Amino acid sequence: MQKNKVPAYEELSKPLKIFSYKWFKWGLVRIFLNTVGRLSKGIRIGFKYGFDSGTMLDYVYENKPQGLLFIGKLIDKGYLDGPGWSGIRQRKIHLKGILREVIENNRKINKSTVIMDVASGPGRYLIEIMQEHQRYNLEILCRDMDEQGLNLGRKLCSQLGIEHIKYERANAFSPEILKSAVPKPNVIVVSGLYELFTNDEIIKKSMTNIAAVLNSGDYFIFTNQPYHPQLELIARTLPNRLKEYWVMRLRPDNEVKSWAMAAGFKHLKTLLDSYSIFSVHLFQKP
Ligand SMILES: C[S@@+](CC[C@H](N)C(=O)[O-])C[C@H]1O[C@@H](n2cnc3c(N)ncnc32)[C@H](O)[C@@H]1O
Repeated sequence: MQKNKVPAYEELSKPLKIFSYKWFKWGLVRIFLNTVGRLSKGIRIGFKYGFDSGTMLDYVYENKPQGLLFIGKLIDKGYLDGPGWSGIRQRKIHLKGILREVIENNRKINKSTVIMDVASGPGRYLIEIMQEHQRYNLEILCRDMDEQGLNLGRKLCSQLGIEHIKYERANAFSPEILKSAVPKPNVIVVSGLYELFTNDEIIKKSMTNIAAVLNSGDYFIFTNQPYHPQLELIARTLPNRLKEYWVMRLRPDNEVKSWAMAAGFKHLKTLLDSYSIFSVHLFQKP
């Protein structure tokens, strides 16, 4: 897919010059999103919980346009069909494909699988994996800092009668909390988390901490965002979970892969969506 030139993080972090063309342009978009845009359920969720929240992501995964009046539903459809959210749904497909592969590899050597997503939100993709693998020896631990997302996941599990998924509030970046996980995971997933942080050192440290809790043969799966065609729109108009404008820092895949290898992992596979926005990486501890 043809990629547009995108502005750098540093440029997007700076406030716009008052009365400049962009100041007017993005100001008008903000007014639209905050008024008519709120007729769309997805945009309302974004303003309430943050456009980068697990709750927002869960609505995007569900992909059922909803809104007030016909116009609200129409705006919601346009919102859900945007390249970023379409890419996120492809990322979910890739993530699930990789997890199926890992579960199968473990099954072949009579090893049970314990998956932990350190920032899972409601963990809809993991609920679906559990639904498919009910007869397998599979356990899942969903962790997140946000109780709202965890509660949504607990509710989904009880509605669907899903067992063996545990939800708990935990900080993904604390090495002690990572070590404390019960049951002990042999597959650790970091999906949609590193992309929320602009400081590279936090990510490198997290990879080293994850390598320290996994054993030889265990798997590490993480996602990255090397590109986004709507970086400026997002940075100037959409608030994140901290109620700040959501300025993304893109990272080349080779760079994040080199950090995982420096942390002691062996690269097995990378999958990228058709918009080149989200990559999913599978690594193993040798
Ligand atoms: C974009 S969502 C990803 C959800 C899920 N992993 C997925 O891919 O479907 C990012 C999640 O990271 C969570 N989060 C942010 N900072 C965190 C931290 N320090 N520890 C744990 N979770 C965190 C947010 O609450 C949010 O649910």
